[in-house]
Amino acid sequence: MKLKPYVFSAMALAATTCFVILIGGDRLLWSQDAQPKAKVGENLQVLEFDNMVDLQNYMKGLTEALGVNCKFCHDLMDFPKDDPKLHKLTARKFMTMVKGLNEGFFKDMDEKVTCFTCHQGRKEPVNSKAELMKIQEEEAKN
Ligand code: HEC
Ligand code: HEC
Repeated sequence: MKLKPYVFSAMALAATTCFVILIGGDRLLWSQDAQPKAKVGENLQVLEFDNMVDLQNYMKGLTEALGVNCKFCHDLMDFPKDDPKLHKLTARKFMTMVKGLNEGFFKDMDEKVTCFTCHQGRKEPVNSKAELMKIQEEEAKN
């Protein structure tokens, strides 16, 4: 049987339409996948978290690593605010450094650097054994 030209072009049109829908649909799915996940935080310039629980756990870790409270870095009425009187801006610089180290020098290493690696629960890291012994003596007096 010979197809009449108009039947043939109708079939071709239908096939093309299906193809376009498939490709189009695929592209739509793909672009949804490629979109960054909904992140939390209004003013996160270095860190990224998928949810508030992860963010809070990280922040709790910071207080332990430096032996401080949230208010060492934050205006407790306004966490996203960058208050230059507090230590948030300094902390962000250190976060940038740590991220750089872990994505660079430590990329292929099992252990990564954290704030705790240097700070060990103190605002100012201890840089020598002599300094540590002095601190421990003072702590023993109290
Ligand atoms: C040593 C400083 C430091 C301490 C301590 C700290 N934070 Fe943060 N926090 C930061 C920095 C810096 C950022 C912003 C990070 C960035 O820019 O990626 C931040 C971001 C946040 C944000 C996101 C705000 C936004 O942009 O929406 C919240 C919420 C937050 N901290 C809560 C806390 C809580 C709660 C505590 C105490 C348990 C705490 N932080 C302790 C430094 C600190
Ligand atoms: C490679 C070691 C190292 C790491 C890792 C490190 N710090 Fe520090 N940090 C230091 C040193 C050393 C100082 C003291 C610098 C000075 O005397 O000015 C310091 C000082 C600070 C201060 C100022 C404290 C004050 O009393 O004024 C803040 C805030 C701070 N670090 C936050 C962080 C945070 C947050 C992280 C993790 C994201 C971090 N640091 C990771 C070495 C480190």
